[in-house]
Amino acid sequence: MSQHRLLLVLSLLFVPCLLQAETPDVETIAEGGRIYDKWWAEMQLRKPNSTHPAYPSTGKKRGAATWRCKECHGWDYRGRNGAYSQGSHYSGIKGIRAYAGGDEDKVFAILKDRTHRYDDVMLDGALKVVAAFVVHGQVDTSQYIDDNSKLVIGNAQRGASLFNDNCARCHHDDGRAIDFADGDKTEYIGTLANKNPWETLHKIRHGHPGSSMRMHHRGGMGMMHGRWRPGESMPAMLGELTLAEQIDLLAYTQTLPKD
Ligand code: HEC
Ligand code: HEC
Repeated sequence: MSQHRLLLVLSLLFVPCLLQAETPDVETIAEGGRIYDKWWAEMQLRKPNSTHPAYPSTGKKRGAATWRCKECHGWDYRGRNGAYSQGSHYSGIKGIRAYAGGDEDKVFAILKDRTHRYDDVMLDGALKVVAAFVVHGQVDTSQYIDDNSKLVIGNAQRGASLFNDNCARCHHDDGRAIDFADGDKTEYIGTLANKNPWETLHKIRHGHPGSSMRMHHRGGMGMMHGRWRPGESMPAMLGELTLAEQIDLLAYTQTLPKD
């Protein structure tokens, strides 16, 4: 084989590897989404007991909640320009939309900066995974969810079969087999989908952090009527359904009973 040929063969072998290294796989992006949601639950780490140093003193939250990415940047990733522009979650902090399709290394560096200080609580590997989510996992929710009415712009009828195929086994066909609320209140999929469609979409795409540990944390069988088995995680739909299908599924969850 001539040297020229050899180089060509080598480059053909290596180019796909390089390309692959550039776009992380869906499992990584989904895990990054669950870290964004609640990193200590996802990674079974100790829950912080301080308030995050970057959380404004004028904000209404204290303690562990202020360490969740979503608390400062929102379920819609739009921070002060989105659903958290007012109310008990207002922090006045900008969103992360500017980094969708951006540079993972820059996001990684931001997470270790003096504002974020996540290298105090997470390993570099986990920070890279959440950076992969920030760059590759975001959705421009304003295209699918009406800011004022919170109504999802999707086809609920098409979403019904997607829900029955992917969610009903654990949550039941009315979404009420698992109650998310603590204490006397109840919160089902239908409740959350109408109150916070952005959070519901985030959970549909990425799954729920630490869901396999649910019994361990909550205790008691009373609130579970679905066929969920302890130790089983809620699946992420990111690699299973197209975005259009995820939106149809979300639209269907808004038709489920709220109480
Ligand atoms: C306690 C609040 C807080 C939390 C929690 C938080 N951030 Fe931030 N984040 C900030 C602030 C404040 C800025 C803006 C800094 C500035 O203005 O330069 C920021 C900026 C960013 C930016 C750059 C946005 C831009 O357009 O410049 C990214 C990306 C980001 N954060 C990702 C994350 C991720 C991922 C997490 C969770 C691992 C997280 N942040 C958790 C407060 C927070
Ligand atoms: C294998 C079982 C399983 C499947 C399948 C499943 N889930 Fe879940 N889901 C769970 C468990 C367990 C939790 C954690 C509940 C808790 O800790 O309160 C959860 C949590 C959630 C939450 C978060 C509620 C909250 O605020 O804490 C939402 C929303 C949700 N599921 C919706 C869905 C949707 C929509 C589907 C289908 C795309 C689905 N789930 C499929 C088991 C499952």
